[in-house]
Amino acid sequence: MLRFLTAGESHGASLIGILDGLPAGLKINKQLIDQDLASRQKGYGRGARMKIEKDKINILSGLRKGKTIGSPLALLIKNRDFKINVLPAIICPRPGHADLSGALKLNTKDMRDVLERASARETAMRVAIGAICRIFLGEFNIASLNHVISIGKVCAHTEGMSFNQIDRAAERSPLSCADKKAQAKMMAEIDKAKTEGDSLGGTFEIIVKNIPSGLGSYAQWDRRLDAKLAAALMSIPAIKGVEIGAGFSGACQRGSEIHDSIFYSREKGFFRNSNNAGGLEGGMTNGEPLVLRCAMKPIATLRQPLPSINIKSKRKTKASVERADVCAVPAAGVVARAMACFCIAQALIEKFAGDSLQELKRNYQGYLRQIRAF
Ligand SMILES: Cc1cc2nc3c(=O)[nH]c(=O)nc-3n(C[C@H](O)[C@H](O)[C@H](O)COP(=O)(O)O)c2cc1C
Repeated sequence: MLRFLTAGESHGASLIGILDGLPAGLKINKQLIDQDLASRQKGYGRGARMKIEKDKINILSGLRKGKTIGSPLALLIKNRDFKINVLPAIICPRPGHADLSGALKLNTKDMRDVLERASARETAMRVAIGAICRIFLGEFNIASLNHVISIGKVCAHTEGMSFNQIDRAAERSPLSCADKKAQAKMMAEIDKAKTEGDSLGGTFEIIVKNIPSGLGSYAQWDRRLDAKLAAALMSIPAIKGVEIGAGFSGACQRGSEIHDSIFYSREKGFFRNSNNAGGLEGGMTNGEPLVLRCAMKPIATLRQPLPSINIKSKRKTKASVERADVCAVPAAGVVARAMACFCIAQALIEKFAGDSLQELKRNYQGYLRQIRAF
C-alpha cells in the first residue's frame, strides 16, 4: 500500500515527507522533482514568499545509488524563510481561512499556531511526493499534464488541441495556460485584482493518459478510484469543486448524448470515440485518459481585508493581512497533478503488487497481454 505523511510549518525549519510502499529498483531523478517544485513556485500573481524560497528536495533515506531499495523514502525541503518563533501573534481571523475554526478547536488566542500548518506551503512536499510517483508512472508509459482553464471570469479555449500541444503550451506559460489570448486577459485580471487589494480563483484541468482499464474497484465505496481522486484533490487547500469528465455539464444532458459508445478493432481492442466519462466508469479506469477538473476559490488573505472580530477584545476590526498570493491557480494545478499521480501510483501498485519494479512490471505486462487476448 503506497502512503505518505507530511509535517512542517509554513515558516518552520523545513517540510518533511515520508513516502512508503514504493517497489525496489526505481531510479529517482532528483532533477525532475526539483523541476516540479519550481513549477509550483511559478505563476503570475504569486506573492513575495515564492521569491524567497528556492525549493530543492533532499532525499534522506530509502535510496541507494540513486535507486529505491524498498524502504520508506524520507524527504526534506528546507524553508529559507524560517522565522516561526519570531513572528507576531494573529488575533483577527481572515474570512475564508482556517484561522477562526482552528483557534476555537485548539483553544488558542494566537491563530499563528493554526495558520502555520493550514498554509498551503505544505503542498510543496506533496508536489515532491507526486513527482516521485510521476517517475514511477513513467516506467509504465503513463503521462500527465495540468493546465489552467479559467482565472476569475476569463476562460481559456483548448478545444481541438492534443495532449502534447496543451502540455507544451502550458509549460511555457507563466500561468500554465495553453491559450495565449486568454492568458493575456488573465494577467490583466490579476493585475487589476492586485491593484484593488483583492484576489482571484479559477479552474484547472489534469489529464493522465495511457492508464490501462481496471485500476480501482466498484466493490467497496472506499476502493473506488473516482472517490479516491476526488478526496485527494479536495484535500488541496482552497479546492472547492472536483469534476470528472463531463461532470456537472453532463448532468443536464441525456444519457444517449453523454455516454461513450463502445467500439472494437483488432489493432486497438476496445475503444471509445468520446471521453465524457473522463476515463472512469464504475470507480475503475476504462482505458481512456483521466480528465479531472478542479475549482479553486479566491485566496482568503486580502490586502483590502474584510470585516472580522478581534478574538481577544471581541471588537469589530478588519481581518489580518499576511503576505499572500493574489492568485495561486497555476500552483494549485501542479499540486493537483501530484495528488492525481499519487492516487494512480497507489492504484497501480495495489493491482499489480510486487516488491521490486521488475516484479510489478512483469505482472503489469501479463495483465496487458490478458486484455489484448480477451
Ligand atoms: C498553491 C496554493 C497557494 C495558496 N496561497 C495562499 C496565500 O498566499 N494566502 C492565502 O490566504 N491562501 C492561500 N491558499 C489557500 C489557503 O491555503 C486555503 O484557502 C486555506 O488553507 C483554507 O482552506 P480552505 O480554503 O480549503 O477552506 C493557497 C492555496 C494553494 C493550493
